[in-house]
Amino acid sequence: MRKAMVAGNWKMNGSSKEALSLVRGFVELQQAGDAGDSNKVGVVLCPSELYIPQVKSLLPEGSGIAVGAQNASDKLSGAHTGEVSVEMLLDVGCEYVILGHSERRALYAESDAVVAAKVRQAIESGITPILCVGESQQEREAGVTMGVVERQLAAIADLCGIEAFGKSVVAYEPVWAIGTGLTATPEQAQAVHAGIRSWVSSRDAVVGQGLQILYGGSVKASNAESLFACEDIDGGLIGGASLDAGEFAAICRAAG
Ligand code: 13P
Repeated sequence: MRKAMVAGNWKMNGSSKEALSLVRGFVELQQAGDAGDSNKVGVVLCPSELYIPQVKSLLPEGSGIAVGAQNASDKLSGAHTGEVSVEMLLDVGCEYVILGHSERRALYAESDAVVAAKVRQAIESGITPILCVGESQQEREAGVTMGVVERQLAAIADLCGIEAFGKSVVAYEPVWAIGTGLTATPEQAQAVHAGIRSWVSSRDAVVGQGLQILYGGSVKASNAESLFACEDIDGGLIGGASLDAGEFAAICRAAG
């Protein structure tokens, strides 16, 4: 039985004051029992890396809330101005790192090969990648959704082996649904999630069955329940709605 997970990707939003008030608000709701059962749903907060230590310091012992970063380097140290290594992220208490987000693929030219190198470094260092995959509107209309997603998965399997998916979380995020208010229907999302699971399962059945696959793209409290009810949707990667403590808690509740 796979545990549900809800991760909040805050992207490049907010100030340190706002980050702290968001965490305080969420923790309060969680402690009041309004963010679902922490035995049933794992919660991950992914603020700007600058705020990770502060966010971490506000999480009560035993809250079960983990912290993640939104990106990391594929290099471990050295002359890489402006980059942050996975070991630095581990050093400040991160357990997860989002890799291959479509905004990084599209706006910062991260190829499948670059994403795979980052995933390899993360796994070797012991931080769990949340690997994002997904098709553009054009690709969906051209009927090549699964081809695109499988190409993105294959880049990881080719470099790191299929075992990499036993140490990763996958997030299916159709690019056309991100920040647009257009959510994939539960049927559309479930079809791709089942496709991802079957692609991994056909290479390693145990890894495929255990793989947590999150859906991301305009998830809100109002649509979370119907998405999370699908067999192969194990939770969500939430953008905009994760910036509101009450909305995010309600989404966690829907998963738990
Ligand atoms: P939205 O929830 O704002 O559509 O963003 C989704 C996302 O990109 C999470 O990584």
